[in-house]
Amino acid sequence: MKEGGVLVVKIGGSCFSDKKVPKSLFIDVIDGVCEQLQSIGMPVVIVHGGGSYGHPIAKKYAIHDGHRDDIPDQTMGFCLTHDAMVELNHVIVGRFLEHGLPAYPVQTSAVFVHRNGVVINSNLAPVDALLDQGFMPVLFGDSVIDESRGFGIISGDSIVVELANGLDHEVNNIVYLMDVDGLHDKNPKLDETATLFTEVFLKGERMLVQQDETLVSIEDAIDQADGSIDVTGGILKKIRALRYIKRHDITIALINGRAASRLAALIAGDDVPRTRIVIQDGDDADG
Ligand code: IPE
Repeated sequence: MKEGGVLVVKIGGSCFSDKKVPKSLFIDVIDGVCEQLQSIGMPVVIVHGGGSYGHPIAKKYAIHDGHRDDIPDQTMGFCLTHDAMVELNHVIVGRFLEHGLPAYPVQTSAVFVHRNGVVINSNLAPVDALLDQGFMPVLFGDSVIDESRGFGIISGDSIVVELANGLDHEVNNIVYLMDVDGLHDKNPKLDETATLFTEVFLKGERMLVQQDETLVSIEDAIDQADGSIDVTGGILKKIRALRYIKRHDITIALINGRAASRLAALIAGDDVPRTRIVIQDGDDADG
């Protein structure tokens, strides 16, 4: 892992919860992450996803679609989505405090404003100020105001991009904590022959992986017949969002956040199972 600068850790919802069971939370996973961060010698920003808290409510009220006349009580749904995220954030931050980590929640929907699903306004000054004072800011996927659609959802993945591009502090490392070792050619939970991609290249819209000496599109390298396409599609979209990170020298790794000491080993510079994300200049055709 690169020396100096800030480490951004995204704790994915699938890592700490079972998305199919509303408001399920694996406290032991959160505790494990805390233990591994206890002796960390660098500034850290935590971003956590919605998991079984934010997603089911956001989906029920179609908050990600923006305002829709055909959905009753959507305004309440916007508030309830945020409320579920605050509830989750409170528990997560509570575990960090219990472990002596100076975690401080940053009310994410007060930091970002969307227009057409894209961040057009962000105020990261409080995050920089917290880092200046040695705190560990904690942001989270949230319901946000959208100037043109009324409202929407900001994912933890967009937040990671905003932090990398917008913080005064230099972000040097980004780690995604998943429930598997990284991106695979098959769903590793369903097929033990699944192979981990050790490197994925983001080149404009394209995601490329090495296969038989050549780089091929990840969609062509993934076995889409194993019934896991929803899961895979979800994570591919999240990782593809990272192409908007402007600096290409940031070290980005996807690792297993449920494995006992993976994060600590990565931070220590050990060679752990991971998918490294390499952002490259896009082709002209990609805009
Ligand atoms: C989603 O954030 C937030 C809400 C649904 C409110 P993410 O998209 O980052 O969440 P995960 O990591 O997939 O759970």
